[in-house]
Amino acid sequence: MNQEEVPLVAALYAHCARNYAHLHVPAHRQGEAIFPEWQGGKEILQLDLTELPGLDDLHHPEGVIARAQALAAELFGAGQAFFLVNGSTVGIMALLLAMCRPGDEILLPRNAHRAVLGGLVFSGAKPVFLEPAVIEEFGMAAGLTSQVVAGALEEHPRARGLLVLHPTYYGVTGDLQQLVELAHGVNKPVVADEAHGVHFPFHDGFPPPALQCGVDASVQSMHKMGGSLTQSSLLHFKGHRIDIRRTAGALRLLQSSSPSYLLLASLDGARRQLATRGAEMLGRAVDLALEVRRALSRLPGITLLGEEHLGRPGVHGLDPTRLVISLRSAGLTGYQVARILARDYRVQVEMADYYNLVVVIGIGTTRRDCELLIRGLQEVVRRVEVGRALMACPERPPLPVARLTPRQAWLAPSRPLPLEECAGHICAEWVNVTPPGIPLLYPGEEIGPEMVEYLQWVRKLPLSVQGPEDPGLQSLRVVVW
Ligand SMILES: Cc1ncc(COP(=O)(O)O)c(C=O)c1O
Repeated sequence: MNQEEVPLVAALYAHCARNYAHLHVPAHRQGEAIFPEWQGGKEILQLDLTELPGLDDLHHPEGVIARAQALAAELFGAGQAFFLVNGSTVGIMALLLAMCRPGDEILLPRNAHRAVLGGLVFSGAKPVFLEPAVIEEFGMAAGLTSQVVAGALEEHPRARGLLVLHPTYYGVTGDLQQLVELAHGVNKPVVADEAHGVHFPFHDGFPPPALQCGVDASVQSMHKMGGSLTQSSLLHFKGHRIDIRRTAGALRLLQSSSPSYLLLASLDGARRQLATRGAEMLGRAVDLALEVRRALSRLPGITLLGEEHLGRPGVHGLDPTRLVISLRSAGLTGYQVARILARDYRVQVEMADYYNLVVVIGIGTTRRDCELLIRGLQEVVRRVEVGRALMACPERPPLPVARLTPRQAWLAPSRPLPLEECAGHICAEWVNVTPPGIPLLYPGEEIGPEMVEYLQWVRKLPLSVQGPEDPGLQSLRVVVW
């Protein structure tokens, strides 16, 4: 195949050039009736079309979309690739729905993205949660260790497969090749949530891509590091351990029947850009990130996740373009630093948690962006008193006992209950607290007295709480029997 081709983008422009009469949706008619506050160019709206003759159909691709997907499969070394218009979220949900039937066990890292909750609720699967390794200084989860995976495979011989995070949000990977060997050794499929790793194949400085490590399927957020529009992702398959037909059926169930051609075209164009210029663009990003890393490592009070952390349990690889920066020893939370950087230095970072900042240096990052970050952090450390370390979070309570599957708990009647009264009840919602970003509760799990105590403590700190209806944790939704 010729990676210079952009079949879908070319078909859309060819369609526009024919100047058709438009007697179809979308109503804005290539920008003619777009709302007046729209400040973008109208040209882009010309491509916001629908399944017209010659433009193929995402749900039954036979023409330009099929061709564009085949080019993506070839580039990433997959047997087959699917374009996704609801992010990696929908790819993860579709894979779980294809792999599991109600009551089937599936092995998952406890710090899996919340998208797995959707997959568990839809499929009725019974999650077997595996504890990821933790990098204590940064209070963050790393990858799964082979001991944990080997033990789980032995204890759960009927499990339908293993899902792994490759890499984590912090750019950390475990030894995926080894995990795949363990799982394939007992004929279990491995699927990778590679939402943050679409760029891995294009530079030697990155950890090996999941498909290269032998996984059976991988979901990648092309929109995160690959340069396509937000919400556009890729789902790749290699081999036949996962039923592709069932996954395609699940995608038809879960995705819009009117997928955005802007998103689809951006996947096609970004794929070509990665194929033709990925090595050069990512090489530049890696070099820039290295420069920033060097400059920041000289600042007092700043700790960076780096090569010296490799070789710890669950830390087999690091994405050099993702800087994990901690000002914990200077007594500042990641939230505080992110706020100061945005307010005083006009610097926006990717993510902040209690201990860390995560900064992404990607194909579009400019030298000026990096200079502003360095200058901002120089000023921040100059302004604070170094030596007043941040208070450490207490130890997480042990994993709760599951009394119901996530689906049973999700579908059961539930009601909010004051946190103080929750002990002994079954949780009806997902509760994640960062750090360490390892969910404390899944629907169906029993809320123990130590969990209530921990959540009371969480309430007092500026920690990020995701999932519950009441993020202030005054109450939790519990299952009503
Ligand atoms: C680890 C991980 N997996 C999956 C997702 C979902 O990806 P998307 O936003 O493309 O739906 C995210 C989103 O941030 C993520 O961080």
